[in-house]
Amino acid sequence: MDKFVINGGNRLHGEVSISGAKNAALAIVCGSVLCDGICRIENIPDITDVASIVRILDDMGAKVRTVNRSTIEIDPTTIKTHVAPYELVRQSRGSSYLMGALLGRFSHAVVGMPGGCNFGVRPIDQHLKGFTALGAKYSLEGGMVDIFAEKLKGNSIYLDIISVGATINIILAAVRAQGTTVIENAAKEPHVVDVANFLNSMGADIRGAGTDVIKIHGCSYLGGTTYSIIPDQIEAGTYMVAAAATGGDVLIRNVIPKHLESISAKLEEMGVTVEEYDDSIRVVRSGTLNKCNIKTMPHPGFPTDMQPQITTLLSIAQGTSIVNESIFDNRFRYVEELKRMGAQISVDGHLAVIEGVEHLNGAPVKATDLRAGVAMLIAGLCAHGVTQIEDIFHIERGYECIVEKMQALGADIKRLSVPEPAIPRAI
Ligand code: EPU
Repeated sequence: MDKFVINGGNRLHGEVSISGAKNAALAIVCGSVLCDGICRIENIPDITDVASIVRILDDMGAKVRTVNRSTIEIDPTTIKTHVAPYELVRQSRGSSYLMGALLGRFSHAVVGMPGGCNFGVRPIDQHLKGFTALGAKYSLEGGMVDIFAEKLKGNSIYLDIISVGATINIILAAVRAQGTTVIENAAKEPHVVDVANFLNSMGADIRGAGTDVIKIHGCSYLGGTTYSIIPDQIEAGTYMVAAAATGGDVLIRNVIPKHLESISAKLEEMGVTVEEYDDSIRVVRSGTLNKCNIKTMPHPGFPTDMQPQITTLLSIAQGTSIVNESIFDNRFRYVEELKRMGAQISVDGHLAVIEGVEHLNGAPVKATDLRAGVAMLIAGLCAHGVTQIEDIFHIERGYECIVEKMQALGADIKRLSVPEPAIPRAI
Protein backbone atom coordinates (compact mmCIF):
# COMPACT_ATOMS: atom_id res chain seq x y z
CA MET A 1 0.00 0.00 0.00
CA ASP A 2 3.02 2.33 -0.29
CA LYS A 3 2.35 5.55 -2.18
CA PHE A 4 4.04 8.41 -3.93
CA VAL A 5 2.73 11.82 -2.88
CA ILE A 6 3.49 14.63 -5.29
CA ASN A 7 2.85 18.31 -4.85
CA GLY A 8 2.75 19.40 -8.48
CA GLY A 9 3.95 22.55 -10.16
CA ASN A 10 7.73 22.59 -9.67
CA ARG A 11 9.81 23.05 -12.85
CA LEU A 12 12.40 20.27 -13.08
CA HIS A 13 15.91 21.67 -13.47
CA GLY A 14 19.46 20.38 -13.09
CA GLU A 15 21.08 17.07 -14.03
CA VAL A 16 20.10 13.44 -13.77
CA SER A 17 22.10 10.32 -14.58
CA ILE A 18 20.46 7.38 -16.33
CA SER A 19 20.88 3.82 -15.02
CA GLY A 20 21.52 0.63 -16.98
CA ALA A 21 18.77 -0.62 -19.29
CA LYS A 22 16.20 -2.78 -17.52
CA ASN A 23 15.26 -4.87 -20.54
CA ALA A 24 18.89 -5.49 -21.49
CA ALA A 25 19.76 -6.37 -17.89
CA LEU A 26 16.95 -8.94 -17.63
CA ALA A 27 18.11 -10.75 -20.76
CA ILE A 28 21.81 -10.47 -19.91
CA VAL A 29 21.37 -11.88 -16.40
CA CYS A 30 19.42 -14.81 -17.91
CA GLY A 31 22.04 -15.12 -20.68
CA SER A 32 24.78 -15.51 -18.07
CA VAL A 33 23.44 -19.06 -17.58
CA LEU A 34 25.16 -19.96 -20.86
CA CYS A 35 28.62 -19.01 -19.60
CA ASP A 36 31.32 -21.56 -18.71
CA GLY A 37 33.00 -19.05 -16.39
CA ILE A 38 32.17 -16.01 -14.30
CA CYS A 39 30.17 -13.08 -15.74
CA ARG A 40 30.85 -9.72 -14.20
CA ILE A 41 27.96 -7.44 -15.17
CA GLU A 42 28.39 -3.70 -14.68
CA ASN A 43 25.90 -0.82 -14.88
CA ILE A 44 23.13 -3.13 -13.73
CA PRO A 45 20.07 -1.17 -12.55
CA ASP A 46 19.02 -1.52 -8.91
CA ILE A 47 15.34 -2.29 -9.56
CA THR A 48 13.03 -5.01 -8.34
CA ASP A 49 12.56 -6.68 -11.77
CA VAL A 50 16.30 -7.35 -12.00
CA ALA A 51 16.45 -8.42 -8.34
CA SER A 52 13.74 -11.05 -9.07
CA ILE A 53 15.72 -12.58 -11.94
CA VAL A 54 18.94 -12.61 -9.91
CA ARG A 55 17.02 -14.33 -7.13
CA ILE A 56 15.78 -17.01 -9.54
CA LEU A 57 19.36 -17.79 -10.61
CA ASP A 58 20.45 -17.86 -6.98
CA ASP A 59 17.59 -20.24 -6.20
CA MET A 60 18.66 -22.49 -9.08
CA GLY A 61 22.17 -22.80 -7.64
CA ALA A 62 24.20 -20.02 -9.33
CA LYS A 63 26.75 -18.22 -7.16
CA VAL A 64 25.86 -14.54 -7.18
CA ARG A 65 28.13 -11.91 -5.62
CA THR A 66 27.15 -8.25 -5.32
CA VAL A 67 30.33 -6.27 -5.99
CA ASN A 68 28.70 -2.86 -5.53
CA ARG A 69 25.34 -1.25 -6.16
CA SER A 70 25.63 -1.51 -9.96
CA THR A 71 27.93 -4.53 -10.41
CA ILE A 72 27.30 -8.21 -9.82
CA GLU A 73 29.25 -11.37 -10.56
CA ILE A 74 27.40 -14.51 -11.54
CA ASP A 75 29.01 -17.94 -11.58
CA PRO A 76 26.36 -20.04 -13.36
CA THR A 77 28.50 -23.20 -13.53
CA THR A 78 27.00 -24.41 -10.24
CA ILE A 79 23.44 -24.42 -11.67
CA LYS A 80 22.37 -28.05 -11.78
CA THR A 81 18.69 -27.72 -12.68
CA HIS A 82 16.85 -26.81 -15.86
CA VAL A 83 13.67 -25.95 -13.91
CA ALA A 84 12.95 -22.31 -13.08
CA PRO A 85 10.54 -22.04 -10.13
CA TYR A 86 7.03 -20.96 -11.14
CA GLU A 87 6.35 -18.61 -8.22
CA LEU A 88 9.39 -16.45 -8.99
CA VAL A 89 9.16 -16.58 -12.77
CA ARG A 90 5.58 -15.36 -12.91
CA GLN A 91 6.59 -12.06 -11.29
CA SER A 92 8.55 -10.82 -14.30
CA ARG A 93 8.29 -10.93 -18.08
CA GLY A 94 12.07 -10.98 -18.39
CA SER A 95 12.25 -14.44 -16.84
CA SER A 96 10.94 -15.79 -20.17
CA TYR A 97 14.58 -15.47 -21.31
CA LEU A 98 15.34 -18.46 -19.10
CA MET A 99 13.61 -20.57 -21.75
CA GLY A 100 16.27 -19.80 -24.37
CA ALA A 101 19.14 -19.71 -21.89
CA LEU A 102 18.36 -23.03 -20.15
CA LEU A 103 17.61 -24.67 -23.49
CA GLY A 104 21.00 -23.49 -24.78
CA ARG A 105 22.79 -24.73 -21.67
CA PHE A 106 20.99 -28.02 -20.88
CA SER A 107 18.98 -28.69 -24.08
CA HIS A 108 16.04 -28.72 -21.66
CA ALA A 109 14.10 -25.91 -20.00
CA VAL A 110 11.08 -26.04 -17.72
CA VAL A 111 9.95 -22.48 -17.03
CA GLY A 112 6.74 -20.99 -15.64
CA MET A 113 4.71 -18.94 -18.10
CA PRO A 114 6.11 -15.44 -17.71
CA GLY A 115 4.27 -12.57 -15.97
CA GLY A 116 5.08 -8.85 -16.30
CA CYS A 117 2.88 -5.92 -17.28
CA ASN A 118 -0.68 -6.79 -18.14
CA PHE A 119 -1.68 -5.08 -21.37
CA GLY A 120 -3.53 -7.74 -23.26
CA VAL A 121 -2.62 -11.24 -24.32
CA ARG A 122 1.13 -11.64 -24.56
CA PRO A 123 1.64 -14.85 -26.53
CA ILE A 124 4.98 -16.67 -26.91
CA ASP A 125 4.19 -18.51 -30.15
CA GLN A 126 7.15 -16.91 -31.98
CA HIS A 127 9.56 -17.98 -29.23
CA LEU A 128 8.24 -21.55 -29.51
CA LYS A 129 8.37 -21.43 -33.31
CA GLY A 130 12.05 -20.55 -33.04
CA PHE A 131 12.86 -23.29 -30.53
CA THR A 132 11.01 -25.83 -32.68
CA ALA A 133 13.03 -24.80 -35.74
CA LEU A 134 16.18 -25.48 -33.71
CA GLY A 135 14.97 -29.06 -33.13
CA ALA A 136 13.16 -28.73 -29.79
CA LYS A 137 9.76 -30.09 -28.80
CA TYR A 138 7.59 -28.45 -26.19
CA SER A 139 4.55 -29.04 -24.03
CA LEU A 140 2.53 -26.70 -21.84
CA GLU A 141 1.21 -28.05 -18.56
CA GLY A 142 0.16 -26.57 -15.22
CA GLY A 143 1.38 -23.09 -16.14
CA MET A 144 4.84 -24.44 -17.08
CA VAL A 145 6.47 -24.65 -20.51
CA ASP A 146 8.65 -27.74 -20.95
CA ILE A 147 11.05 -27.47 -23.91
CA PHE A 148 13.43 -30.28 -24.80
CA ALA A 149 15.86 -31.03 -27.63
CA GLU A 150 18.01 -34.12 -28.21
CA LYS A 151 20.44 -31.75 -29.89
CA LEU A 152 19.92 -28.13 -30.90
CA LYS A 153 20.69 -27.54 -34.58
CA GLY A 154 20.94 -24.18 -36.34
CA ASN A 155 18.18 -23.32 -38.81
CA SER A 156 16.52 -20.38 -40.60
CA ILE A 157 13.64 -18.73 -38.77
CA TYR A 158 11.36 -16.05 -40.15
CA LEU A 159 9.47 -14.25 -37.39
CA ASP A 160 5.84 -13.59 -38.34
CA ILE A 161 5.77 -10.67 -35.89
CA ILE A 162 8.66 -8.45 -34.90
CA SER A 163 9.20 -9.58 -31.32
CA VAL A 164 11.96 -8.41 -28.99
CA GLY A 165 11.41 -11.37 -26.66
CA ALA A 166 11.39 -14.01 -29.41
CA THR A 167 14.48 -12.53 -31.10
CA ILE A 168 16.48 -12.58 -27.86
CA ASN A 169 15.22 -16.00 -26.78
CA ILE A 170 16.13 -17.57 -30.12
CA ILE A 171 19.60 -15.98 -29.98
CA LEU A 172 20.09 -17.40 -26.46
CA ALA A 173 19.17 -20.91 -27.57
CA ALA A 174 21.08 -20.71 -30.86
CA VAL A 175 24.48 -19.58 -29.52
CA ARG A 176 25.18 -23.10 -28.31
CA ALA A 177 23.39 -24.95 -31.14
CA GLN A 178 25.31 -26.89 -33.76
CA GLY A 179 25.65 -24.91 -37.01
CA THR A 180 24.24 -21.59 -38.13
CA THR A 181 20.92 -19.96 -37.24
CA VAL A 182 19.48 -17.09 -39.24
CA ILE A 183 16.67 -14.98 -37.75
CA GLU A 184 14.79 -12.91 -40.32
CA ASN A 185 12.43 -10.07 -39.46
CA ALA A 186 14.32 -9.78 -36.17
CA ALA A 187 13.71 -6.99 -33.63
CA LYS A 188 16.28 -4.17 -33.80
CA GLU A 189 15.87 -2.63 -30.33
CA PRO A 190 19.05 -1.37 -28.63
CA HIS A 191 18.82 -4.08 -25.99
CA VAL A 192 18.78 -6.81 -28.67
CA VAL A 193 22.15 -5.43 -29.78
CA ASP A 194 23.35 -5.22 -26.18
CA VAL A 195 22.52 -8.88 -25.52
CA ALA A 196 24.34 -9.91 -28.70
CA ASN A 197 27.38 -7.83 -27.69
CA PHE A 198 27.33 -9.43 -24.23
CA LEU A 199 27.24 -12.94 -25.70
CA ASN A 200 29.97 -12.05 -28.22
CA SER A 201 32.12 -10.82 -25.33
CA MET A 202 31.94 -14.42 -24.00
CA GLY A 203 33.08 -15.76 -27.39
CA ALA A 204 29.79 -16.20 -29.25
CA ASP A 205 29.61 -15.42 -32.96
CA ILE A 206 26.49 -13.29 -33.54
CA ARG A 207 26.37 -10.89 -36.48
CA GLY A 208 23.77 -8.45 -37.72
CA ALA A 209 22.14 -7.54 -34.38
CA GLY A 210 20.48 -4.15 -34.90
CA THR A 211 19.40 -5.14 -38.44
CA ASP A 212 16.47 -7.36 -39.33
CA VAL A 213 18.67 -10.35 -40.21
CA ILE A 214 20.75 -11.86 -37.41
CA LYS A 215 23.19 -14.75 -37.99
CA ILE A 216 24.38 -16.90 -35.14
CA HIS A 217 27.18 -19.44 -35.58
CA GLY A 218 26.82 -21.87 -32.69
CA CYS A 219 29.80 -22.64 -30.45
CA SER A 220 30.48 -25.15 -27.69
CA TYR A 221 32.27 -22.94 -25.18
CA LEU A 222 31.53 -19.47 -23.82
CA GLY A 223 34.16 -18.03 -21.49
CA GLY A 224 33.85 -15.61 -18.55
CA THR A 225 33.41 -11.91 -19.29
CA THR A 226 33.14 -8.41 -17.88
CA TYR A 227 30.35 -6.47 -19.55
CA SER A 228 28.74 -3.07 -18.98
CA ILE A 229 25.03 -2.67 -19.82
CA ILE A 230 23.88 0.22 -22.05
CA PRO A 231 21.92 3.13 -20.54
CA ASP A 232 18.15 2.74 -20.35
CA GLN A 233 16.50 4.33 -23.39
CA ILE A 234 13.08 4.42 -21.72
CA GLU A 235 14.29 5.81 -18.39
CA ALA A 236 16.03 8.58 -20.35
CA GLY A 237 12.90 9.22 -22.43
CA THR A 238 10.82 9.38 -19.27
CA TYR A 239 13.02 12.15 -17.81
CA MET A 240 12.90 13.96 -21.18
CA VAL A 241 9.11 13.98 -21.07
CA ALA A 242 9.05 14.92 -17.37
CA ALA A 243 11.30 17.91 -18.13
CA ALA A 244 9.00 18.97 -20.97
CA ALA A 245 5.82 18.46 -18.92
CA THR A 246 7.02 20.73 -16.11
CA GLY A 247 8.41 23.46 -18.40
CA GLY A 248 11.85 22.46 -17.11
CA ASP A 249 15.50 22.51 -18.17
CA VAL A 250 17.21 19.17 -17.53
CA LEU A 251 20.54 17.71 -18.63
CA ILE A 252 20.15 13.95 -18.85
CA ARG A 253 23.53 12.26 -18.51
CA ASN A 254 24.77 8.78 -19.43
CA VAL A 255 22.56 8.29 -22.49
CA ILE A 256 23.10 7.21 -26.10
CA PRO A 257 21.38 10.09 -28.00
CA LYS A 258 20.98 7.88 -31.10
CA HIS A 259 18.63 5.61 -29.11
CA LEU A 260 16.48 8.63 -28.25
CA GLU A 261 16.00 10.04 -31.76
CA SER A 262 12.34 9.04 -32.17
CA ILE A 263 11.52 10.62 -28.78
CA SER A 264 13.58 13.78 -29.46
CA ALA A 265 11.88 14.20 -32.85
CA LYS A 266 8.40 14.14 -31.32
CA LEU A 267 9.34 16.49 -28.48
CA GLU A 268 10.79 18.95 -31.02
CA GLU A 269 7.59 18.71 -33.05
CA MET A 270 5.74 19.72 -29.87
CA GLY A 271 7.94 22.81 -29.50
CA VAL A 272 10.44 21.47 -26.94
CA THR A 273 14.16 22.21 -27.38
CA VAL A 274 16.37 19.12 -27.39
CA GLU A 275 20.16 19.52 -27.50
CA GLU A 276 22.27 16.43 -28.13
CA TYR A 277 25.80 15.99 -26.80
CA ASP A 278 28.10 12.93 -26.92
CA ASP A 279 26.57 11.06 -24.02
CA SER A 280 23.99 13.47 -22.67
CA ILE A 281 20.91 15.29 -23.84
CA ARG A 282 19.38 18.56 -22.63
CA VAL A 283 15.65 19.16 -22.71
CA VAL A 284 14.23 22.66 -22.26
CA ARG A 285 10.64 23.82 -22.56
CA SER A 286 9.65 27.44 -22.17
CA GLY A 287 6.59 27.98 -24.40
CA THR A 288 3.32 26.15 -24.89
CA LEU A 289 3.22 22.59 -26.22
CA ASN A 290 1.90 21.87 -29.71
CA LYS A 291 -0.33 18.93 -30.57
CA CYS A 292 1.19 16.03 -32.48
CA ASN A 293 0.26 12.56 -33.73
CA ILE A 294 2.22 9.50 -32.72
CA LYS A 295 2.20 5.84 -33.72
CA THR A 296 4.16 3.32 -31.67
CA MET A 297 6.37 1.08 -33.78
CA PRO A 298 9.22 -1.41 -33.36
CA HIS A 299 12.66 0.26 -33.17
CA PRO A 300 13.68 2.67 -34.66
CA GLY A 301 10.04 3.83 -34.45
CA PHE A 302 8.49 5.51 -31.42
CA PRO A 303 8.66 2.98 -28.53
CA THR A 304 5.46 1.61 -27.02
CA ASP A 305 7.19 1.87 -23.63
CA MET A 306 7.05 5.70 -24.00
CA GLN A 307 3.39 5.79 -25.07
CA PRO A 308 1.77 6.50 -21.67
CA GLN A 309 4.33 9.21 -20.86
CA ILE A 310 3.93 11.03 -24.20
CA THR A 311 0.13 10.72 -24.06
CA THR A 312 0.27 12.42 -20.66
CA LEU A 313 2.36 15.22 -22.15
CA LEU A 314 -0.06 15.59 -25.07
CA SER A 315 -2.92 15.93 -22.60
CA ILE A 316 -1.57 19.42 -21.75
CA ALA A 317 -0.64 20.37 -25.35
CA GLN A 318 -2.68 22.84 -27.39
CA GLY A 319 -5.10 21.16 -29.82
CA THR A 320 -6.13 17.62 -30.65
CA SER A 321 -3.54 14.84 -30.88
CA ILE A 322 -3.93 11.21 -31.89
CA VAL A 323 -1.87 8.37 -30.46
CA ASN A 324 -1.97 5.03 -32.26
CA GLU A 325 -0.74 2.09 -30.15
CA SER A 326 0.26 -0.50 -32.74
CA ILE A 327 2.27 -2.92 -30.58
CA PHE A 328 0.00 -4.00 -27.70
CA ASP A 329 -3.78 -4.52 -27.64
CA ASN A 330 -4.63 -3.04 -24.28
CA ARG A 331 -2.12 -0.37 -23.38
CA PHE A 332 -4.52 2.50 -22.69
CA ARG A 333 -5.91 1.19 -19.38
CA TYR A 334 -4.21 4.07 -17.53
CA VAL A 335 -6.26 6.66 -19.46
CA GLU A 336 -9.13 6.29 -16.97
CA GLU A 337 -6.70 7.32 -14.21
CA LEU A 338 -5.42 10.28 -16.23
CA LYS A 339 -9.00 11.41 -16.82
CA ARG A 340 -9.44 11.60 -13.03
CA MET A 341 -6.83 14.36 -13.19
CA GLY A 342 -8.79 16.29 -15.80
CA ALA A 343 -7.30 14.91 -19.04
CA GLN A 344 -9.71 14.79 -21.98
CA ILE A 345 -8.99 11.59 -23.83
CA SER A 346 -11.23 9.15 -25.65
CA VAL A 347 -9.98 5.70 -26.53
CA ASP A 348 -11.25 3.56 -29.37
CA GLY A 349 -9.30 0.32 -29.69
CA HIS A 350 -5.75 1.17 -30.72
CA LEU A 351 -6.43 4.91 -30.94
CA ALA A 352 -6.49 7.61 -28.29
CA VAL A 353 -7.78 11.04 -29.21
CA ILE A 354 -6.45 13.68 -26.84
CA GLU A 355 -7.98 17.15 -26.50
CA GLY A 356 -5.31 19.19 -24.77
CA VAL A 357 -6.36 20.93 -21.53
CA GLU A 358 -4.70 23.93 -19.87
CA HIS A 359 -3.53 21.93 -16.88
CA LEU A 360 -4.16 18.73 -14.95
CA ASN A 361 -5.40 18.65 -11.36
CA GLY A 362 -3.90 16.47 -8.64
CA ALA A 363 -5.95 13.41 -7.64
CA PRO A 364 -5.57 9.98 -6.05
CA VAL A 365 -4.64 7.60 -8.90
CA LYS A 366 -3.28 4.09 -9.42
CA ALA A 367 -0.27 2.81 -11.32
CA THR A 368 -1.89 0.21 -13.58
CA ASP A 369 1.48 -1.00 -14.90
CA LEU A 370 5.10 0.16 -15.02
CA ARG A 371 5.02 2.82 -17.77
CA ALA A 372 1.44 3.78 -16.94
CA GLY A 373 2.59 4.34 -13.37
CA VAL A 374 5.43 6.61 -14.36
CA ALA A 375 3.02 8.51 -16.61
CA MET A 376 0.90 9.20 -13.49
CA LEU A 377 4.05 10.45 -11.80
CA ILE A 378 4.70 12.86 -14.70
CA ALA A 379 1.07 13.96 -14.56
CA GLY A 380 1.44 14.60 -10.83
CA LEU A 381 4.61 16.66 -11.36
CA CYS A 382 2.91 19.07 -13.76
CA ALA A 383 -0.58 19.09 -12.17
CA HIS A 384 -1.99 21.73 -9.86
CA GLY A 385 -2.28 20.37 -6.33
CA VAL A 386 -1.51 17.01 -4.76
CA THR A 387 -1.43 13.64 -6.50
CA GLN A 388 -1.21 10.35 -4.63
CA ILE A 389 -0.16 7.28 -6.61
CA GLU A 390 -1.02 3.79 -5.38
CA ASP A 391 0.47 0.46 -6.50
CA ILE A 392 3.89 2.03 -6.92
CA PHE A 393 5.53 -1.41 -6.89
CA HIS A 394 4.88 -1.33 -10.65
CA ILE A 395 7.04 1.81 -11.00
CA GLU A 396 9.78 0.43 -8.76
CA ARG A 397 10.06 -2.64 -10.99
CA GLY A 398 11.75 -0.48 -13.60
CA TYR A 399 13.00 2.90 -12.29
CA GLU A 400 16.05 3.09 -10.04
CA CYS A 401 15.80 5.66 -7.20
CA ILE A 402 13.07 7.57 -8.99
CA VAL A 403 12.07 9.58 -5.92
CA GLU A 404 15.65 10.63 -5.16
CA LYS A 405 16.37 11.47 -8.81
CA MET A 406 13.19 13.55 -9.14
CA GLN A 407 13.82 15.30 -5.81
CA ALA A 408 17.34 16.23 -6.99
CA LEU A 409 15.68 17.90 -10.00
CA GLY A 410 13.47 19.95 -7.70
CA ALA A 411 10.32 17.83 -7.66
CA ASP A 412 8.20 17.83 -4.52
CA ILE A 413 7.68 14.07 -4.26
CA LYS A 414 7.89 11.65 -1.37
CA ARG A 415 7.33 7.97 -0.80
CA LEU A 416 4.91 7.13 1.98
CA SER A 417 4.84 3.73 3.63
CA VAL A 418 1.21 3.10 4.45
CA PRO A 419 0.57 0.12 6.77
CA GLU A 420 -1.99 -2.35 5.43
CA PRO A 421 -5.34 -1.85 7.24
CA ALA A 422 -5.84 -4.48 9.95
CA ILE A 423 -8.48 -7.05 9.01
CA PRO A 424 -11.09 -7.12 11.81
CA ARG A 425 -11.11 -10.45 13.60
CA ALA A 426 -14.33 -12.42 13.60
CA ILE A 427 -15.86 -12.50 17.04
N1 EPU B 1 3.97 -11.27 -29.88
C1 EPU B 1 3.30 -12.34 -30.41
N2 EPU B 1 3.89 -13.57 -30.29
C2 EPU B 1 5.08 -13.77 -29.67
C3 EPU B 1 5.76 -12.63 -29.14
C4 EPU B 1 5.16 -11.40 -29.26
O1 EPU B 1 2.21 -12.23 -30.96
O2 EPU B 1 5.55 -14.90 -29.60
C5 EPU B 1 3.36 -9.92 -30.03
C6 EPU B 1 3.04 -9.27 -28.69
O3 EPU B 1 1.79 -9.69 -28.20
C7 EPU B 1 3.10 -7.81 -29.04
C8 EPU B 1 4.22 -7.75 -30.08
O4 EPU B 1 4.35 -9.07 -30.59
O5 EPU B 1 1.90 -7.44 -29.64
C9 EPU B 1 5.57 -7.29 -29.56
O6 EPU B 1 5.94 -8.03 -28.41
P1 EPU B 1 7.44 -8.29 -27.99
O7 EPU B 1 7.67 -9.75 -28.00
O8 EPU B 1 8.34 -7.43 -28.81
O9 EPU B 1 7.44 -7.79 -26.50
P2 EPU B 1 8.09 -8.48 -25.23
O10 EPU B 1 9.35 -9.13 -25.60
O11 EPU B 1 7.04 -9.27 -24.52
C10 EPU B 1 9.53 -6.43 -24.59
C11 EPU B 1 9.72 -5.57 -23.38
C12 EPU B 1 8.51 -4.68 -23.21
C13 EPU B 1 8.30 -3.86 -24.47
C14 EPU B 1 8.22 -4.77 -25.70
C15 EPU B 1 8.13 -4.01 -27.02
C16 EPU B 1 11.08 -6.93 -21.91
C17 EPU B 1 11.17 -7.74 -20.67
N3 EPU B 1 9.88 -6.42 -22.21
O12 EPU B 1 8.39 -7.23 -24.34
O13 EPU B 1 8.85 -3.81 -22.14
O14 EPU B 1 7.11 -3.13 -24.36
O15 EPU B 1 9.38 -5.62 -25.75
O16 EPU B 1 9.24 -3.19 -27.17
O17 EPU B 1 12.06 -6.74 -22.61
C18 EPU B 1 8.45 -2.38 -20.34
O18 EPU B 1 9.67 -2.30 -20.17
O19 EPU B 1 7.64 -1.62 -19.74
C19 EPU B 1 7.91 -3.39 -21.25
C20 EPU B 1 6.67 -3.77 -21.21
